[in-house]
Amino acid sequence: MQIRGIAVPDFMYGTAWKESRTQALTELALREGFRAIDTANQRKHYCEEAVGEGIRASGLALDTLFIQTKYTQRSGQDERLPYDEDAPIGTQVRQSFHSSIAHLGKIDSFVLHGPSQREGLGPNDHEAWRAIEQLPVALIGISNVTPRQLEELVSFAIVPPAFVQNRCYASAGWDREVRALCTHHGIVYQGFSILTANRDVVQHDREIRAMAKSRGIETSQLVFAFIRARGALPLTGTSDAAHMRLDLASTAIELTAEELAFVESRGG
Ligand SMILES: NC(=O)c1ccc[n+]([C@@H]2O[C@H](COP(=O)([O-])OP(=O)(O)OC[C@H]3O[C@@H](n4cnc5c(N)ncnc54)[C@H](OP(=O)(O)O)[C@@H]3O)[C@@H](O)[C@H]2O)c1
Repeated sequence: MQIRGIAVPDFMYGTAWKESRTQALTELALREGFRAIDTANQRKHYCEEAVGEGIRASGLALDTLFIQTKYTQRSGQDERLPYDEDAPIGTQVRQSFHSSIAHLGKIDSFVLHGPSQREGLGPNDHEAWRAIEQLPVALIGISNVTPRQLEELVSFAIVPPAFVQNRCYASAGWDREVRALCTHHGIVYQGFSILTANRDVVQHDREIRAMAKSRGIETSQLVFAFIRARGALPLTGTSDAAHMRLDLASTAIELTAEELAFVESRGG
């Protein structure tokens, strides 16, 4: 897909929770064909340095890859911080960004990992967004937002978000409200935990299983194909080479309008 003139691969490999396997799995994902990588400068859940090592080990040129990382506020971090926690938020954002560049070699998309509060946006979020807007990066985004927080960000932003990255719950109509806002504002929705947050649909729904079987595909592929057909960019965090191949192969699956409506209806 093209986003604001930038080519973005249509499946993203996520590097959370890989710990000592991060380098090898990043390299494997690239060898299997992924060209977009998601990470974060948040040592608690990611090992961004090892993601960079995996990218270098793949031998692929950086300009053939799309690399996304995140600034994570203090409350989402453990003691292994990529910035001075006593510095102003804007300085923290720049320190985190420069540390990420050192790890990864380049950044195509830089994401605010999440608002600092449950409701609305606070002063720290505003300060972080203003700092992110000024970074030398092609695309910026926000993660873990409610519809109201996204509306607030869109009206506050000088540089609008290109991406929203959210957990995509089928029980919330596959995050229907946030996806609709993204469509309205020309933002690309990135969905994560598409399989793990929706086991009732992906694993246990007999009709979904029958539909996948009739097409000769896996239910995971059916759901990934559905979310892509709705204009979203899926993430996968698999550690399994066969699953990587299945996930990538789902980008060639075109579902009918009836099939799409049916999968949509299995959400809340
Ligand atoms: N912004 C945020 O706050 C945030 C939060 C969470 C995640 N993320 C991003 O999203 C990425 C993906 O996370 P996720 O929660 O979607 O995935 P995930 O939980 O890391 O992995 C998917 C799970 O489903 C299993 N699985 C079974 N069949 C699969 C198939 N065909 N394809 C893929 N997985 C299959 C995997 O097992 P196998 O390993 O055996 O395949 C794995 O246990 C993360 O790595 C991270 O980059 C962002």
